[in-house]
Amino acid sequence: MSELNKIALKIVSNGKGILAADESTGTMSKRLESVNVPSTSDNRLLFRETLFSSESMKNCIGGVILYDETIKQKTSSGKTISEIISSSGAIPGIKVDTGAKVFASSPKEKITEGLDGLRERLKEYYELGARFTKWRSVFNISGEYPSKLSIDANSHALARYSALVQECKMVPIVEPEVLMDGNHSAEDCYKKTSNVIKKCFEELMLYNIDLSGIILKPNMILSGTNSDKKISNEKVAKLTLKCLEENVPKNVPGIAFLSGGQTEIQATENLNLINKYNKTNFIMTFSYGRALQQSALKYWSKDIKDLEGTKKIFNHRANMNSLAAVGKWSAELEKK
Ligand code: 13P
Repeated sequence: MSELNKIALKIVSNGKGILAADESTGTMSKRLESVNVPSTSDNRLLFRETLFSSESMKNCIGGVILYDETIKQKTSSGKTISEIISSSGAIPGIKVDTGAKVFASSPKEKITEGLDGLRERLKEYYELGARFTKWRSVFNISGEYPSKLSIDANSHALARYSALVQECKMVPIVEPEVLMDGNHSAEDCYKKTSNVIKKCFEELMLYNIDLSGIILKPNMILSGTNSDKKISNEKVAKLTLKCLEENVPKNVPGIAFLSGGQTEIQATENLNLINKYNKTNFIMTFSYGRALQQSALKYWSKDIKDLEGTKKIFNHRANMNSLAAVGKWSAELEKK
């Protein structure tokens, strides 16, 4: 078993998943301002430190994805954020792309940037305690999109990113996100997500990536937010499994879904069903941002000194998702 495979498995095994707390300062500011909390660097740290020192970190969270600002911050106890995360047994990770920008060759689409100088940044993050990384490509479904050009260019970037990350002895999270926005059907989402994932793995293989040392972070197969053809959660789970079984090489150890704008309960329920029906050898877990933090943030915003109450809300969501990661969640457990 390679070192990278060991790290990947440690992050996603035993009902553990990933807390995606890597919102850029711009995105985090929007989240905080939406609940009337000023977005100062102290407030961003306080909210995140509160989550990272919650009880559920020990049993439910295998890895935390951080943003550049956070991994360099010291907590009130004088410890670094990486030390707080590691002390609970979880692994610190870092978002290393520099964002999805307008794709000059197809301006209605996005290309993710951040390859220049990446090797040097990776070395710095390793020193700061990171052992895994994230790079997110983003694709929209509408008409002829995503174009072959954007699928090719973004997959190429994901492969070059993964090669550099593995060279630096860290596990790359490969995140090709096909967005929920739009009025497309679930069938459309299935076809287009399949094309994207297939191409990603073609490029990863071309670039000699050790697939046993990556984690795939895909979207679930859903109908578009504005679609009038909603499908059942059972169908979501079955289409998602079909897409992954058909397109992900068998030696990939873990698949950790993004929540992508689903409600907290939807994201948990769908993950639970995916695990109930999962006949593959892939570990299927969560790498949620909004679906782990939304309720905790809302609660915290009412009294930012009530850290214990905030931890309680976060612990509940983390516990529910941890149960869903092994197919043992139920709606009754939500009420307890
Ligand atoms: P959401 O779960 O809020 O979609 O965020 C996950 C993530 O890391 C997106 O890049």
